[in-house]
Amino acid sequence: MATPYYEGHGVQLYLGDCREVLPTLPRESVDLIVTDPPYGKNWQSGRRKNTLGPIAHDDGTLDVAACITTACKVLRDKRHLYVFGPADLSPCPFGATAELIWDKEILGAGDLTIPWGPQHEPITFAVHISRPSNRAAGYGRLAARLRKGSVLRVPRANSGALEDRHNPHQSGKPVHLLRQLIESSSCLGETVLDPFAGHGPTLIAAALEGRNAIGVELDEACAEQAAKRLEGLV
Ligand SMILES: C[S@@+](CC[C@H](N)C(=O)[O-])C[C@H]1O[C@@H](n2cnc3c(N)ncnc32)[C@H](O)[C@@H]1O
Repeated sequence: MATPYYEGHGVQLYLGDCREVLPTLPRESVDLIVTDPPYGKNWQSGRRKNTLGPIAHDDGTLDVAACITTACKVLRDKRHLYVFGPADLSPCPFGATAELIWDKEILGAGDLTIPWGPQHEPITFAVHISRPSNRAAGYGRLAARLRKGSVLRVPRANSGALEDRHNPHQSGKPVHLLRQLIESSSCLGETVLDPFAGHGPTLIAAALEGRNAIGVELDEACAEQAAKRLEGLV
């Protein structure tokens, strides 16, 4: 198994490509996946072009569904995933799914030539059902667990919330939002996996919620920042 780049607060962060690191982790060893893969849009901050480089694998060539399917091998059966972004996850071993909306409560820049600015991002909620026959039989349809509204209103990460102050990522996700997802789909002491950890908001949210966490991040500058943020937790 690979050596963690950072370890502390119940969190292990691996530096590397999740397609190589995930197969080294024990199968069915995590209880929840919360992740924010590259959206494949070559996103680049207009205002902070000089300080923030492009996101790795954001050119549309990464097969996100294949990465999530690989991550599912590490996830226990019947447990939940939350995957941010627009990727087509239909090939993944999912039972029940639902689309959640993160309302950032503020307009992003987007295409300034049209009258509508982006204020939300989609999140796919899914139940992992590993066997095709069990998926066909409808396993993983939830009876009562997911009884909250599907729109989550949380100001975006760089809005000044204390927990998010040190996330310079262009597509940074607010820790408060991730805490809600983790609290809804796991128990104290369980383990959360984020194969696209970025600057570590999922790992921080997991630690604050009393969960263990495993993160994988390809970009060393991001991993270093995530480790610094985790070290700063008290
Ligand atoms: C959308 S960003 C995640 C941002 C994160 N939610 C945050 O708030 O900091 C996607 C991240 O995945 C990383 N990444 C891209 N391809 C990867 C791969 N194959 N394995 C692991 N990490 C990867 C990128 O470096 C980037 O940090």
